[in-house]
Amino acid sequence: MSDLLNPPPEPSPPQRAKGEPRFPGGPAADPAGSHHERRIRSFQPRRSRVTTGQADALERLWPRWGLDIDGQRVLDLPTLFDGLPVVLEIGFGMGEATAQMAAADPSTGILASDVHTPGQGNLLRLAERNGLSNIRVANGDAIILLREMLKPDSLAGLRVYFPDPWPKSRHHKRRLIQPEFLDLAAARLAPDAVLHCATDWVPYAEQILEVLTAHPCFENTTADGGYAPRPGFRPLTRFEGQGLDKGHAVHDLLFRRNDRPSGHSTG
Ligand SMILES: C[S@@+](CC[C@H](N)C(=O)[O-])C[C@H]1O[C@@H](n2cnc3c(N)ncnc32)[C@H](O)[C@@H]1O
Repeated sequence: MSDLLNPPPEPSPPQRAKGEPRFPGGPAADPAGSHHERRIRSFQPRRSRVTTGQADALERLWPRWGLDIDGQRVLDLPTLFDGLPVVLEIGFGMGEATAQMAAADPSTGILASDVHTPGQGNLLRLAERNGLSNIRVANGDAIILLREMLKPDSLAGLRVYFPDPWPKSRHHKRRLIQPEFLDLAAARLAPDAVLHCATDWVPYAEQILEVLTAHPCFENTTADGGYAPRPGFRPLTRFEGQGLDKGHAVHDLLFRRNDRPSGHSTG
């Protein structure tokens, strides 16, 4: 029996005929194509169940607020965001925290990227329901977005909240935050823009602190050179809540992009 606290699950959309697109007019499946990127990817492509509400949002709102990361064009962020400064979020999951941050700061545009289709639909739904016009949803690998589709110094900030921890040693190479990623991030962030990471996986927090501290283009905003106190503007994320339930400690890291030292090439 269902009640208000335990509503029945939303029905799945009807089955498609073979070859029919999953969401007409919506996000493409693997828009840049796995062949585009021989590098080991930081996410596991998965085909997740999309509710009817999410599917409806993807079909109606994608043409207005969505974009595929196809690696084929350079984005004009001022036009895309009506002149707002733009922060890139990599891996927004189901998007609740993203929507909250967009609502709390309408003068900042959020370019929210993920490969997770149900989350893309959910974030579009939240944006519409809350009248948020400062979110655009990018579908695909954020590495391709950064490398091929964003101009140098074009980002006012970069957020990576609870990146997949890939705890097994043989999977560490899949972790997003690595020196090469920081080279790319430094090249796309404007001087003084902040890279904000948070994780509930202590060994990953230690790795992130180590590579950020060692990188010549970033400096820690925390005076003692360690983790930052949790900033009040970062809402609790879904993944963070799950980590806290398991007793995990959460660490925030906020590093500013400094003026690029001469001789350090960031592409
Ligand atoms: C552990 S979840 C965290 C989600 C959300 N930030 C939260 O805290 O609830 C990590 C997310 O990052 C996404 N992700 C991983 N690598 C990515 C990449 N290269 N580009 C875009 N999204 C990525 C995954 O699909 C997943 O949704």
